Amino acid sequence: MERYVIKGGVALEGEVTIAGAKNAALGILAAAVLTDEECIIENVPSVEDTRVLLRAIEGLGAKVKYIDAHTVSICAGTIRGGEDLCVDDMYIRKIRASYYLLGALLGKYHYAEVALPGGCEIGLRPIDQHIKGFEALGASVDIVNGGMVRAQAEQLIGRHVYMDVVTVGATINIMLAAVLAEGKTTIENAAKEPHIVDVANFLNSMGANIKGAGTDVIRIRGVQKLKGTEYSIIPDQIEAGTFMTMAAATGGNVLIKNVIPKHLEAISSKLNEIGAHVLEYDDSVRVMADGRLKSTQIKTLPYPGFPTDMQPQMAVTLALSQGTSIITESIFENRFKYVNELSRMGARIKVEGNSAVINGIESYTGANLVAPDLRAGAALVIAALAAEGFSTVEDIKYILRGYEDFDGKIRALGGKIELVDSDKELQKFKLRVG
Ligand code: EPZ
Repeated sequence: MERYVIKGGVALEGEVTIAGAKNAALGILAAAVLTDEECIIENVPSVEDTRVLLRAIEGLGAKVKYIDAHTVSICAGTIRGGEDLCVDDMYIRKIRASYYLLGALLGKYHYAEVALPGGCEIGLRPIDQHIKGFEALGASVDIVNGGMVRAQAEQLIGRHVYMDVVTVGATINIMLAAVLAEGKTTIENAAKEPHIVDVANFLNSMGANIKGAGTDVIRIRGVQKLKGTEYSIIPDQIEAGTFMTMAAATGGNVLIKNVIPKHLEAISSKLNEIGAHVLEYDDSVRVMADGRLKSTQIKTLPYPGFPTDMQPQMAVTLALSQGTSIITESIFENRFKYVNELSRMGARIKVEGNSAVINGIESYTGANLVAPDLRAGAALVIAALAAEGFSTVEDIKYILRGYEDFDGKIRALGGKIELVDSDKELQKFKLRVG
């Protein structure tokens, strides 16, 4: 079985280039079905989630072509509308973001059937706010055929929708359903993440009329038709943050290129607060750390607060800092599963409800670890890179969903990591790195 083997103790140094934002790409790829014309989308991260979503879009009848590893052409003119617009269970079971096809297909064809996304490793992940938005626009939504969500409408009329919860997915999904509706839709209490803005900018480049994305009130005036476009996805804020904490936790000096520093402000400010040094340039940031970092308090919040997707990576860094830190996870109900794994490396963390109390230790000892989810998996790799000795990380399928060439990028920074799928290869790695 594929796993990472890592020899820790190396301070990472050098340069890393960040890929396109996975969580913007998933909304944008789904949005491309809103036009019959060709959309050319650049800077698509080559990760499992985007590949699975593109297979689902092709499965609907669209023409999907990779122009190069990071540029995709989607032409949805070949999708036949009607009651066979069904996103196969196997896709949605693999990635939750297939539910963006519910909003896009409803918006364009007034019909869609998508398998109800299950909960996942970090929480229940309900979609009641998505459904609330679709129903507000005049759609009827019900659960059919054993777990498929069916949304259909005679017509979609713009409405005022107040989100009971700040939700990235529902904000994007309601935008997708509203851009071709009649009249004006207002989304109040909308999420403000950079990837929401990126999806709105993509839709506007197709001729949509969306204002206010990035604020908590998004105004959408429905248009008759959307046209093809060429668009480049923003850099991934969370991949950038992951490498920033990797530099800090290993006491390294890394230039992280192809980023938008403004999107990283919450992360940069916390790293500076604990004694790392973050230097900002136009489209890159440098992170340096020498000596023991300090403790702090963190509460995850919707953007521009500290991102929940950076919570495990920051916890790993704080578990090596001087003193006691507290992390409160206010977005998801089950995002501390990595703590048991970290404790096996010597970490001293106590989870109480939705908070983790972290007593910093001098160093981790290597261990055999299992990734519980995407971001926790990346965090365990960071811990192994900072640890003394050898570690392995299993279930790396989670990591491959959201990070492109993760081990290759770490090796380029001097990290001793290899993806192996046999004990023989593991032994060869150990002999080679000594
Ligand atoms: C997106 O998930 C991201 N995924 C997540 O990133 C990220 O953690 C999350 O936003 C928060 O930033 C993608 O973009 C594909 P939410 P999403 O709807 O849209 C509750 C990663 O690591 N809620 O903003 O599913 C929900 O339970 C992944 O890349 C409802 O109650 O998150 C949660 O507590 C992990 N009802 C809160 O809102 C709803 O209808 C925020 O969820 C929808 C959500």
